[in-house]
Amino acid sequence: MRTIEVFDTTLRDGEQSPGVSLTQEEKMEIARQLARLGVNVIEAGFAASSKGDFESVQRIANEIRGVSVCSLSRAVQNDIEQAYAALKGAEHPRIHVFLATSPIHMQHKLKMTPEQVLEQIDAAVRLARKYFPDVEFSPEDAGRSELDFLVKVAEVAAKAGATVLNIPDTVGYLTPEEYAHLFRYVREHAKGIEKLKLSAHCHDDLGLATANTLAAIAAGVDQIEGTINGIGERAGNVAIEEVALALATRPNVYQAATSLDLSQIARTSRLVSKLTGMVVQPNKAIVGANAFAHESGIHQDGMLKEKSTYEIIRPETVGMADTKLVLGKHSGRHAFKEHIKSLGYELEGEALNNVFRKFKDLCDKKKYVTDEDILSLLLEYEVDSSQVAYRLEFMHVSCGTQGVPTATIGLHDDEKGLLQEAAVGNGAVDAIYRAIDRITDEPVELLHYQIDSVTGGQDALGEVRVQVRQGDIVANGRAVSTDVLEASARAYLDAINRMIIKRMDTLGKEFRRRKEQVDVHA
Ligand code: KIV
Ligand code: ZN
Repeated sequence: MRTIEVFDTTLRDGEQSPGVSLTQEEKMEIARQLARLGVNVIEAGFAASSKGDFESVQRIANEIRGVSVCSLSRAVQNDIEQAYAALKGAEHPRIHVFLATSPIHMQHKLKMTPEQVLEQIDAAVRLARKYFPDVEFSPEDAGRSELDFLVKVAEVAAKAGATVLNIPDTVGYLTPEEYAHLFRYVREHAKGIEKLKLSAHCHDDLGLATANTLAAIAAGVDQIEGTINGIGERAGNVAIEEVALALATRPNVYQAATSLDLSQIARTSRLVSKLTGMVVQPNKAIVGANAFAHESGIHQDGMLKEKSTYEIIRPETVGMADTKLVLGKHSGRHAFKEHIKSLGYELEGEALNNVFRKFKDLCDKKKYVTDEDILSLLLEYEVDSSQVAYRLEFMHVSCGTQGVPTATIGLHDDEKGLLQEAAVGNGAVDAIYRAIDRITDEPVELLHYQIDSVTGGQDALGEVRVQVRQGDIVANGRAVSTDVLEASARAYLDAINRMIIKRMDTLGKEFRRRKEQVDVHA
């Protein structure tokens, strides 16, 4: 059984998804969870692309241990030096240098001849090797590059000291057969290729990313690159969880496995979905809400008789809890702590008390509290609550088929204490949001509002997700409650709190940029 390394690019290629922009703290949360999941490499960002990216890469490099931390870099000196500066604190630093090699990109984007491209690859990889023991090179748009040119690229990269050759299907153009052939061809013809680890990187424009990645594994690659939930540019990258489960479910076919802790997959998926605001489609393989649901009578009958009739993966394998009663209102703090540990969460002190309090409140409102419910509560507390500007103290809503919907809201502000306002609206949620707007005085545009139920039944938890925008800043919020109006209010506040954090991040950067300018001139 071969071990396939997993290179996660959720924080780089994944963050390039339209509408996704993570704060530094959110990137740290995801990086910690990726380390728990057991990925081999975290591509933490593109250090030279902005000060924000530089700082995120640096923080992840300084804090995350036991995993390679990598930065993307164009094949130019400044990018390579910025990547080196950002990754100095990493336990296992890696740089990922790329330059396009397809005729379309070389002619129209780079305006370079193939010879010039080869020279630049040689110079960039050599320079990168001066700073890094581990250098990955990617010929961008390899999927539409000429095979014999890719062979030359591989030879130049190997000779210049690269350690990994990633061959990306940048625009998701290839079929599985073509992608596998590409790897076999390069391996057969490129001199020095045995020095390089080969890596697959697939985009999903034709819905072939998983099939292509698996074809590359069958053709012998050592590493696969992808994102959690398959987020990324356009139709996204390959979903890591799909590849990992295909290998785990069909070992005889692929004779290969990843070293991921598969039980962390659901938790990672939920976190990425929450922080990016990218909702996972219900029928998505492995992590969709319906991935383990059986609707038709015939299927349910089969499942009751023998699960393997319709289930090829056990939900527990990927940390998807069964909807079963787990704990009740008489359960103590210790039993709760032990139970959430079995779900992959180790909480202590105030964090544990907070979630336990929420759990007790939920037991008063809901007859059957399931693992799904508890995971929803845990997700709400996952991100650093010390950064919260406003908290919901109370709300009162009056609405019906007649009269004007009215909301009275009380928010707690650490500096000003309790703040209250009332407002009317064209519905209960509108009235709540107007009252909150009056208190926070943070004009935002509501871009998206979505409500789902966490489990079935009349007393199910309602999950609300919202997305708001203020100027260039877009922020997501999420909250759960058995009362959907309360969940609506808290999701909106969550988004406003995150937007304030993002704005402070931006202002802080602007302040530092101006200060640096003043220092340079002084
Ligand atoms: O898809 C792609 O080509 C990339 C490169 C930067 C490797 O993401
Ligand atoms: Zn990509």
